[in-house]
Amino acid sequence: MRRATLIDHGIGGMAYHSTDEGVMKECEDCHGAATSIHVGTSVENTVRTHERLACQVCHIPTFSRKVATYVDWRWGVAGLDARPASCAAAPTGVAADGVTQRTTYVKNKGCFTWATNVRPSLRYYDGKWNRMIVGFNDKWTTQPVDLGSPSASYLDASAKIYPFKKMTGNQVADANNKTMMVPHLYGTVTGPNPYWAKFDWAASLTDAANYLPAYNAGPGFTGAFEFVETVMLLKVDHEVAPKEQAYGKDNGCADCHFADQIDWTALGWTKDPATGGTQTLP
Ligand code: HEC
Ligand code: HEC
Ligand code: HEC
Repeated sequence: MRRATLIDHGIGGMAYHSTDEGVMKECEDCHGAATSIHVGTSVENTVRTHERLACQVCHIPTFSRKVATYVDWRWGVAGLDARPASCAAAPTGVAADGVTQRTTYVKNKGCFTWATNVRPSLRYYDGKWNRMIVGFNDKWTTQPVDLGSPSASYLDASAKIYPFKKMTGNQVADANNKTMMVPHLYGTVTGPNPYWAKFDWAASLTDAANYLPAYNAGPGFTGAFEFVETVMLLKVDHEVAPKEQAYGKDNGCADCHFADQIDWTALGWTKDPATGGTQTLP
C-alpha cells in the first residue's frame, strides 16, 4: 500500500495547510519547470510552444468532478415560501442528493444553479485583482457588475494564463446611487431587522447602513433597492486530475482549439489563434 505523505496530492487541501509551513507552495516548487517535466512525454512540444499556460490550465481540465458546485446564485428571489418558477428545479432524473445535485431554492438565500464537471474560464493573471470594497469603490456602472476578477491582460509580461471558476448571480444594490449593498442577514447586534428573520430587504439595508461606518461616511441607504447582475472569477487550484486526463495528451490540440472551448477574446485574441486569430501588440 502506498503511504500518503504530506508532499503527495493525497492531502485535504487548503483546510489542512498550516501557516507554519510558510507561503502556499506553487506547482513548480515541487515539480520543477514545465519544460523539464514533460521531456519524452506526448505533450513535450505543446508545453514548449505554450509558455504562457500555467500548469493548472492543463492539469485541472474540469472541477467539481464528483461533488456539485454552485455556479449561479440569485439573491433576488429570496424570501419566498416556495421555489419560484424562475428558479429551475434540479435537472430531470437528478435527485437532490446533496452531493451531485443539491437543493435549488432556499428561502434565506434565493436560487442556486449547480454544476459538476465544469470546465474553467481562462484569464491572464499576475497575482493582482479587481475588487469592489465597501465604502471605497462600491458603485457599479455596467452589468454584470464585476465583483472580483484578475486585473492582468496579455500585455503584462509577467502574467500567465490560469483557470477560474465563473460565478454569476444577482445581488442587492441601492437603486438611486448604484451602490452595491451588504445586507444585515442575522442576529440583532447590528440592528433589529436581520433579513433572515424579517425578510424585509429595505429594513435590513437600513440596519446595515446605520451600522457600517463606511456607509455612514458615504452614501448610506437611500431607501430604494434593486437586484443587479453580478459576476466574479475565482481561482482554481484544487482537483489536479490523473495525468492521463490532462489537456494536450497525445498532441490533443483539439482539447483546446477549433471548437471555441476557450473564450479567446478574453485572452486578447480576435478568435482562436489556431484558426487565424491574432493579438494586437503595442
Ligand atoms: C499544455 C498542457 C500542459 C501544461 C501547461 C503542463 N502540463 Fe503537465 N502534463 C500534461 C500532459 C498531457 C501530461 C501527460 C503526458 C503523457 O503522459 O504523455 C503531463 C504530465 C505531467 C506530469 C507527469 C510526468 C510523468 O513523468 O509522468 C507531471 C508531474 C506534470 N505534468 C506536472 C506539470 C506541472 C507542474 C506543470 C507546470 C509547471 C505542467 N505539468 C504543465 C499537460 C500539461
Ligand atoms: C507539495 C508538493 C507538490 C505540489 C505543490 C504539487 N505537487 Fe503534484 N505531485 C506531488 C507528488 C509528491 C506527486 C506524486 C509523484 C509520484 O507519485 O511520482 C505529484 C503528482 C502529480 C502529478 C501526476 C499525477 C499522476 O497521474 O500520476 C501531476 C500531473 C501533478 N502532480 C501536477 C501538479 C500541479 C498541476 C500542481 C499545482 C497545482 C502540483 N502538482 C502541485 C507533489 C506536489
Ligand atoms: C490546454 C489547452 C491547449 C492545448 C492542448 C493546445 N493549445 Fe494552443 N493555445 C492555447 C491557448 C490558451 C493559447 C493562447 C496563448 C496566449 O494567449 O499566449 C494558445 C495559442 C496557440 C497558438 C498561437 C501561438 C502564438 O503565440 O501565436 C497556436 C498556433 C496554437 N496554440 C496551436 C496549438 C497546437 C498546434 C496544439 C496541439 C499540438 C495546441 N495549440 C494545443 C491552448 C491550448
